[in-house]
Amino acid sequence: MRVAMIGTGYVGLVSGACFSDFGHSVICVDKDKDKINRLQNGEIPIYEPGLNELVEENVKADRLSFTTDLAAAVPNADAIFIAVGTPSRRGDGFADLSYVYAAAEEIAGLLQDYTIIVTKSTVPVGTGAEVEEIITRERPEFKAGVDFSVASNPEFLREGAAIEDFKRPDRVVAGVEDEKAHDVMRELYRPLFINETPMVITNRVTSELIKYAANAFLATKITFINEMADLCEKVGANVQEVAKGIGLDGRIGGKFLHAGPGYGGSCFPKDTLALVRTAQLHKAPTRIVEAVVEINERRKKAMADRIKNAAGGNLKGKTVAVLGLTFKPNTDDMRDSPSLDIIPALIKDGAEIRGHDPAGMDEARKHFKDTIQYCDGPYHALEGADLAVIITEWDAYRALDLDRLKELLSEPIIVDLRNIYTPDFMAEKGFKYYSIGRP
Ligand SMILES: NC(=O)c1ccc[n+]([C@@H]2O[C@H](COP(=O)([O-])OP(=O)(O)OC[C@H]3O[C@@H](n4cnc5c(N)ncnc54)[C@H](O)[C@@H]3O)[C@@H](O)[C@H]2O)c1
Repeated sequence: MRVAMIGTGYVGLVSGACFSDFGHSVICVDKDKDKINRLQNGEIPIYEPGLNELVEENVKADRLSFTTDLAAAVPNADAIFIAVGTPSRRGDGFADLSYVYAAAEEIAGLLQDYTIIVTKSTVPVGTGAEVEEIITRERPEFKAGVDFSVASNPEFLREGAAIEDFKRPDRVVAGVEDEKAHDVMRELYRPLFINETPMVITNRVTSELIKYAANAFLATKITFINEMADLCEKVGANVQEVAKGIGLDGRIGGKFLHAGPGYGGSCFPKDTLALVRTAQLHKAPTRIVEAVVEINERRKKAMADRIKNAAGGNLKGKTVAVLGLTFKPNTDDMRDSPSLDIIPALIKDGAEIRGHDPAGMDEARKHFKDTIQYCDGPYHALEGADLAVIITEWDAYRALDLDRLKELLSEPIIVDLRNIYTPDFMAEKGFKYYSIGRP
């Protein structure tokens, strides 16, 4: 099939590349000229393992191309995916749908034969209907379900494992309102049927809600174990063993039960908030998710106090080596990363920051500007530092040379917000070691 992907960010680029690898013919469109230029020159604008090779192979095979020109992509497409950003709207936390609606308007003017328009962006219930209305308004001669269809196909990929998640998903969810759309969605994902990937085909609003329900549930799981970690610290229990003890119960499952500094990233913070607002609007408040949002915000901020306490209660004149700036490993994405709350709070308390991240340095520069020092590696960050803080659990930090660390630090203090080392081992090595929810 011929696919146009509108928006070539983390989701659009990965989805476009994977669809082309399935054998579809894909054009990825973006308004960002620089991004498209780089892609046309074989450069991948984001860090995502395996993406380089996948894009290169499919471009070579003539199945994948990039353009800023919507008119070159839309008229020939069988399916048009909208994969633009849906950030939090400033002030009220609702999803900002202006990019989605703008894309819908632009697409409408270019439609020719029957085409399916699919929202892959995470969008609140009712957005598909609104997109359909926009197209009917722009093209009164077009009838929904006959000349075009609007479907929902939320994306569940995780940055850092995005290709694997797209190609071997736990399930594909599609929300359709007519037979034609149903058939096209099945055809698009037919290559996954050999793996017997479950396909949940439902109506549009249900599909839209599934995405928010999934993210809110996962954010709740993380927040739950974070609160258990706080309790563990008070009573001398070990949160990792609590997580194991409950996670082995098949009804609970062990994933997303790692205590840490609070969830961040490009999805959970904005999606939980958007769900809360949608639910309030429809007078069916999601009290659990409201609590999750509030607890998580408070938690990220409280991490700076934890670090200050580890430094003896005062950070004035102290240098803190921060390892890991991105919201999770294997991505360069800094959106809503816990480091964005923690580092400014440390600076406010008088600390100097020496930061390192294996892939996020360029993105970090955009956020922290000249307020921190950027280091070439973890040991460089530790030079002359008074204490070290691990914010992101990159593999590169899991087996640091601890003797060297001890030599570099003025005091052997490590605050490990991801529990990647064990307290006993660190004590043996002579560190004052602070982690999350462990005695
Ligand atoms: N990042 C993730 O892990 C992830 C996972 C699942 C779902 N999602 C959802 O997918 C959507 C996209 O997220 P992302 O992380 O890829 O965002 P992103 O910011 O990385 O990419 C969005 C891209 O859309 C482009 N764009 C905006 N308006 C456009 C237009 N009218 N025409 C062409 N291009 C346009 C922007 O220039 C940008 O490159 C969001 O709704 C997000 O919630 C993201």
